[in-house]
Amino acid sequence: MSEKENSPRSPTRTIAVLLRELLPEDLEALIALDQLHVAMGEQGSGDTKRWRKALTRFLSQGHEDEGRVALGAETEEGLVGYLLGEVRAFEFGSEPCGWVFSVGVHPHLQKSGIATSLMREACRRFSKAGVSTVRTMVRRNQIPVLRFFRANDFTGGRFVQLEKKLENGNRGEQR
Ligand SMILES: CC(C)(COP(=O)(O)OP(=O)(O)OC[C@H]1O[C@@H](n2cnc3c(N)ncnc32)[C@H](O)[C@@H]1OP(=O)(O)O)[C@@H](O)C(=O)NCCC(=O)NCCS
Repeated sequence: MSEKENSPRSPTRTIAVLLRELLPEDLEALIALDQLHVAMGEQGSGDTKRWRKALTRFLSQGHEDEGRVALGAETEEGLVGYLLGEVRAFEFGSEPCGWVFSVGVHPHLQKSGIATSLMREACRRFSKAGVSTVRTMVRRNQIPVLRFFRANDFTGGRFVQLEKKLENGNRGEQR
């Protein structure tokens, strides 16, 4: 039985992609994908300079650490998707868990199961690294993104995020 027939939540069409480690050389392709998302009104970094800095640091750390996940999805056209995550310990008094920081797929290839493939591989790696929970944060008005995580078995967690606005603290954060 194929994976699609086996799972009630499999996407409607599937595209063959190669999943591979992201390398420092992927930086520009990742930034281009992020800019496409921003241009299409999807959730992106919103700040290329900050995203470039964070990505450069993340990609330069290598792949020896089992708790770090920097995955790319590639077709003949090049890099079409990515997922970045990391096992973090003792955050907010919680047990170590995997965090998915960012996941994105080229707009023309969305709804083809690419992010689901990336998520499955990330969860396999987090599990291998010894954690039993994976977490993420999503803007509450990003319904398609919430749906994606829900389709991948994410549910409301045990923590609630709280925040306070500081006077003169507006640094262009998206709502
Ligand atoms: C969210 C995102 C990563 C999903 O990638 P994707 O490859 O299209 O996701 P999949 O094809 O694996 O989708 C799996 C399931 O998630 C749900 N889903 C995905 N995109 C959806 C959308 N736009 N609307 C509603 N449900 C959606 C569906 O249930 C889908 O299954 P189906 O196709 O059988 O209906 C992609 O839309 C994206 O790159 N968005 C812009 C960047 C972003 O916002 N990233 C998340 C925050 S970092």
